[in-house]
Amino acid sequence: MPAPAIQAAPLPVRRPEVLDFLATRRSVAAKTMTAPGPSRAGLEEILAAGARVPDHGMLVPFRFVVLEGPARDRVAAAARAAALEAGLGEENAGKAERSAGLGPVVVAVICIPVASPKIPVWEQELSAGAACAALVNAGLAAGWGANWLTGPVARTPAFLHTAFAAPEGAFVAGFVHFGTPTVAPAERERPDLAAITDWPEA
Ligand SMILES: Cc1cc2nc3c(=O)[nH]c(=O)nc-3n(C[C@H](O)[C@H](O)[C@H](O)COP(=O)(O)O)c2cc1C
Repeated sequence: MPAPAIQAAPLPVRRPEVLDFLATRRSVAAKTMTAPGPSRAGLEEILAAGARVPDHGMLVPFRFVVLEGPARDRVAAAARAAALEAGLGEENAGKAERSAGLGPVVVAVICIPVASPKIPVWEQELSAGAACAALVNAGLAAGWGANWLTGPVARTPAFLHTAFAAPEGAFVAGFVHFGTPTVAPAERERPDLAAITDWPEA
């Protein structure tokens, strides 16, 4: 039997609108967002873009948990409780609660590294981070405010277990918040390209 034809991805072409977006994109602070957030259909478009990231070995070392309303509030409360339980103090407990509870819609990106003889855990963690960045950019490109937060309990086992029944070794790569912006975000300083870029001649 002939092998099934593999569909080709499109060849790269210059896309000025995309380049302009990447050159001007800016997160919107979750604390300045209001309702509504994206609908389920809108979110599915954003999630598909978030899952389309480089992933060595195609291990898919991340999961998305969509949090809205009571589910979001339950996770935010668990984050607060875990911070207090871990002795991190009231200020960090507030930060932990807000890291999961601010935006109208929050996607928790859980990094779950897959046991592999070839692909190290750190590469899988980078893939989960790439998914977070792709979610932020897809959300912004769809016209929503988007913001990537982690907070003080993103790697706290008790929180991960209570909130997500996550296996050992898993952690929150990001709580990515989506909502309606209420204020235009101020521009922030960007790295000096010349200072961070080398062009060795040999
Ligand atoms: C891994 C990661 C975790 C972050 N966690 C937090 C956080 O917990 N609280 C916070 O205020 N900002 C946090 N930030 C920063 C925000 O995402 C901030 O909005 C972002 O750096 C702005 O970048 P932009 O202007 O390029 O969009 C985090 C950023 C990254 C990459």
